[in-house]
Amino acid sequence: MPDKISEDIKQKIERLVKELNYHSYRYYVLDSPVMSDEEYDKLYRQLKELEEKYDYILPDSPTLRIGAPAAEKFEKVKHTEPMLSLGNAFSHDEVKEFDKRIKKLLGTGDEVEYTVEPKYDGLAIELTYKDGLLFRASTRGDGYEGEDVTQNIKTIKSVPMKIEAERVPGEIDIRGEVYMDLDEFEKLNKKREKAGEPLFANPRNAAAGSVRQLDPSITSARKLYLACYGIGAVKGIEFRSQSELAKWLQESRFPIPEKMKAVKGIDRVIDAVKEVEEKRGDFSFEIDGAVIKVNDFGLQQKLGVKTREPRWAVAYKFQAHHGTTRIKEIHGSVGRTGVITPFAVFEPVRIGGVTVSRSTLHNWDEIERKDIRVGDTVVVERAGDVIPHVIMVIKEKRTGKEKKFPIPERCPACGSKVVREEGEVAVRCVSLHCPAQVQEKIIHFASRGGMDIEGLGEKNVELLYSRGLLKHFEDIYKLKKEDMLELPRFAEKSAQNLIDAVEKSKHATLSKFLFGIGILHVGEYAAKVLAKNFRKLEDLYKVTPERIMQIKQMGEKIASSAAMFFNDQKNINLLNSMIKLGLKITNPDFISEKKGGAPLEGLTFVITGAMPKSREEVEDLIEANGGHAASAVSASTSFLVVGEEPGSKLGKAKSLGVKTISYNELLKMIEKKPGNPRLF
Ligand code: IVH
Repeated sequence: MPDKISEDIKQKIERLVKELNYHSYRYYVLDSPVMSDEEYDKLYRQLKELEEKYDYILPDSPTLRIGAPAAEKFEKVKHTEPMLSLGNAFSHDEVKEFDKRIKKLLGTGDEVEYTVEPKYDGLAIELTYKDGLLFRASTRGDGYEGEDVTQNIKTIKSVPMKIEAERVPGEIDIRGEVYMDLDEFEKLNKKREKAGEPLFANPRNAAAGSVRQLDPSITSARKLYLACYGIGAVKGIEFRSQSELAKWLQESRFPIPEKMKAVKGIDRVIDAVKEVEEKRGDFSFEIDGAVIKVNDFGLQQKLGVKTREPRWAVAYKFQAHHGTTRIKEIHGSVGRTGVITPFAVFEPVRIGGVTVSRSTLHNWDEIERKDIRVGDTVVVERAGDVIPHVIMVIKEKRTGKEKKFPIPERCPACGSKVVREEGEVAVRCVSLHCPAQVQEKIIHFASRGGMDIEGLGEKNVELLYSRGLLKHFEDIYKLKKEDMLELPRFAEKSAQNLIDAVEKSKHATLSKFLFGIGILHVGEYAAKVLAKNFRKLEDLYKVTPERIMQIKQMGEKIASSAAMFFNDQKNINLLNSMIKLGLKITNPDFISEKKGGAPLEGLTFVITGAMPKSREEVEDLIEANGGHAASAVSASTSFLVVGEEPGSKLGKAKSLGVKTISYNELLKMIEKKPGNPRLF
């Protein structure tokens, strides 16, 4: 039983929390501590003792940042407002074109005010605060739906647990970038190298990998930072501009991008961009450009969003980074389609803050064209998020000892003879038994975009394959715990986890399955389009290329390879045997083929006022019928659905000329159209 708490103790605890939070803010956000680490630790321990003794823990207590147990998986989180991406500008001229576009769309000749800030190379996170308290943190995911990483994000000390401000909104989604600084990144990789663990390719991957840890104590051990650059849905507070938002964020103790500026006119924007670029090396973290945004939120609303990018912002990407190094070796690696791709192993070189030690050479023609030889000194480029590649050979540095690397005649993985078809650059291993291909296929099948089987990554697939337990996709569904327990990497728990993950993956969507089985040229997008157009897997059996070509988004290449796949009896047998082993495929993506597709396709709806059903239900209804539900009115809104006691959105809709409808009219729009009125 905890001791009974007095008012005095309560106040003491409250004071300690306030003080510790303030000093943590000084340390992690302002980078100007005024308290020694020892003093901080002392107060922290005092607080912890009192909390335990009296069982009284405030929701913003720093002790809540750590100690959450490891999770089994991440829950999915739907973003109230989609998290968009940014269009790119690769030159100052393209930035000027962006400004011209803005002025044209706004119908003005006047100079526009913009903000300029560094583009952090990390991962986007949304922080939801309810009544001032951190309620949830989620990853961007596909922009619409991410993963709940609250416990991990709480371990980042610069993320406020509570909004300390005069104006606290009822609810607010704050967006920012989580990143790792270069020092920490180097340290982490050194430690991993010693431990024989795979290295992170760059700080962004390291930050993303750290946030996506099921065990928050691992995230906690990695020093991560945050920079907040925007908001999503918000209730109970209004901001007029980016600068006003930044000011509020700063007052509320959120870290904002360093060196953020508001300037008027595109010439000043270019100056500010140049300044960021010149100072690129001064940042203690990696940036890959500058983000330029129209400052005024009213104008942002007017400009709206084009596909998944706002028209009011652009990312100016810095010039690529280059480095010089020597090629130590050239090898071929076999992908899941049998294509053998050459890659070079370098003497490690630091480019843009990252150590590069290998890069793809793309294909064998490229090696010949650029005359790349083992021993050559080469210029390597690593541009933004692009994988490193060899730009050129410095021939002046040749000593005569460099060796040409011939196109392999045999597969490096299985030794069988390779083929190179007429007019094709790719060299392929066509052996059905090539272990590299089979393993790559299984890894792809189990990957996150595919059947998402946790625990079936490179290492385990290699092991299970080598022991004869995994020779094809279908073997995944035949795995037995007893067999795994005999293998070195598996213990009771890890074996059970894999069995559970396999079991879970048996309930798959058609689009993920189609992507997973790895039909040549069918990527995630094509798989989704196929799922939208075919009700069930069996409808694709014996499909003709012509039938696929009828689908607007499908080209000849995909059509012929998908048709070839589904006309091969061996493949059909494989699919059927997987279904027999318990695979259950559902297809929520299917849209009735009857005229018009989904009734609300291509339309964007915003809701205001009280609806006869909950807002989520109405939004789900809109989305289930092909529409998009947004939370703010802009020029791209098709309809505002108006309920009782509508809010300010009604006025905004009227001023922008957006049509308004009632809930009943929305239902009619869905019912009237032929096809699938999916009402619920
Ligand atoms: S604003 C509408 N500002 O870049 C999108 N994004 O390429 C608003 N990023 O997903 C994004 N630093 O993760 C913005 N100062 C900054 C940023 C920034 C990094 C990331 C962000 C976004 C990606 C788009």
